[in-house]
Amino acid sequence: MTCTWKRHTEEKTPNTVVKKEELRDAASLYHMFPDVADVVQLRSQLLNWYQREKRELPWRTLAVTESDLNIRTYAVWVSEIMLQQTQVATVIDYYNRWLKRWPSVKDLASATLEEVNQMWAGLGYYSRGKRLHEGAQKVVSELRGQMPQSVDRLLKELPGVGRYTAAAVGSIALGEVTGTVDGNVVRVLCRLRAIGADCTSPAVTEALWSLANTLVDPERPGDFNQAMMELGARVCTPKAPVCNQCPIQTHCRSYHKVHVKQEQNSRKLLGTPYSKTSVLGDIEDCINSGTCSLCPSEPWDDELGVQNFPRKPTRKPPRMERTLTCVVSRSGGDGEDEVLLQRRPNKGLLAGLWEFPSLLLDEGTSERKQKMALSDEVSRILGTHLSDTLLQYVGEVVHVFSHIHQTYVVYSMCLKEADAHSHTGNTQWLSHRALQEAAVSTGQKKILKLFNSVDTRKEKCLKEKNKKKSPVCKKPRVGGAKSGGRQLCLTSFLTSVKDQSV
Ligand code: ADE
Repeated sequence: MTCTWKRHTEEKTPNTVVKKEELRDAASLYHMFPDVADVVQLRSQLLNWYQREKRELPWRTLAVTESDLNIRTYAVWVSEIMLQQTQVATVIDYYNRWLKRWPSVKDLASATLEEVNQMWAGLGYYSRGKRLHEGAQKVVSELRGQMPQSVDRLLKELPGVGRYTAAAVGSIALGEVTGTVDGNVVRVLCRLRAIGADCTSPAVTEALWSLANTLVDPERPGDFNQAMMELGARVCTPKAPVCNQCPIQTHCRSYHKVHVKQEQNSRKLLGTPYSKTSVLGDIEDCINSGTCSLCPSEPWDDELGVQNFPRKPTRKPPRMERTLTCVVSRSGGDGEDEVLLQRRPNKGLLAGLWEFPSLLLDEGTSERKQKMALSDEVSRILGTHLSDTLLQYVGEVVHVFSHIHQTYVVYSMCLKEADAHSHTGNTQWLSHRALQEAAVSTGQKKILKLFNSVDTRKEKCLKEKNKKKSPVCKKPRVGGAKSGGRQLCLTSFLTSVKDQSV
């Protein structure tokens, strides 16, 4: 991008010395709000829009109606942790259920981590729930049940609370005058002030916090911060932003830039040079893009318009992983099928959650070896010997974590009563209904869904086969010894396996 400076061209008179620092200051002014009148106007435009357009959300209502400061701080803390990396629409239901079950920090502290994980199941990034729980226990055991009552103390005393969360909770629940910068606010501010350098760089981060603190309304800091987030979520969106509905469009440097560029382009086409007398007036731009730590290093892209901002760093592609997984079933006491689950370790990815027995797959392992390793793993868990011929291929499920592209290669195995009883401490048998309520991740629920759908398909296949004489059943491929490669429904398969000696 060419960063031209038109207003103060380098017309130096012999006795005027423009110092380097002055130039740098002037450059950064382009990315800031030096004029107080602009700030006052922006606050009022944004807050009026928010008053008209804001969504009624449970944590917003609570922040206004809850008079007990301790409960209000707790409730806003919970909402802000849930809203990290999760969409508002998904959070609402989880939030309502959470506060109904644990209406105060003391209630949460007395829950078990298993209960917390169970409540969190499906929300993703499970360490967040764990941290909330740890934080609540700390508040009760070390702070006499009193939530920290300032941004500084929130930051220092609560695990998992960083600069953003502390400022959001402090402004929304406690009315502390501080700006805050989450992903939505990064986008709004970068566009507003044409900040196009890597938005995760220290220089940009500091500039954004400084902007947020300049802009925040001292009378209504919580509303102002939520209005910025709301604007980012609903108007100044990552894709297809609706600039014509933006209440602060007149302050937006990137919006202005788009129109200047458009006019320049059409003048180029018409052969009329661009001049200061243009309808759009002077080109305001950063004084020196070459040294400015906030200006883009990439050239302007006409196609992108305001979406030239913000500039994100190129992310490392997620690691590709394949995991062998086995849905092991047995017929439960009351006739309902049950499946075997194993608890993950207390540390690391999906800590403490339940999952189907699984094994990380080594590249290039033959199908036969895969099946042997998987049946060995299930045998180890159940303390018995199970033949790999019991395994039926079900299909594949892809689940993308932030840093791992996970493919689950799913098998099923139906067990005879005798094999299905002994098991070690970290395992449990759950009915399909109980599984819906358990502390399992979305990836595991996808596996179960596939398993159930294949099961239904198999059932259908069998019916079709009985009706007509030519069944077309592709996968699962490998049948149990007695199924002779035929596709069986779960109940039929269970019966056939029960007849089998392993
Ligand atoms: N994202 C983070 N905090 C939020 C809030 N309080 N309201 C809506 N979206 C948010």
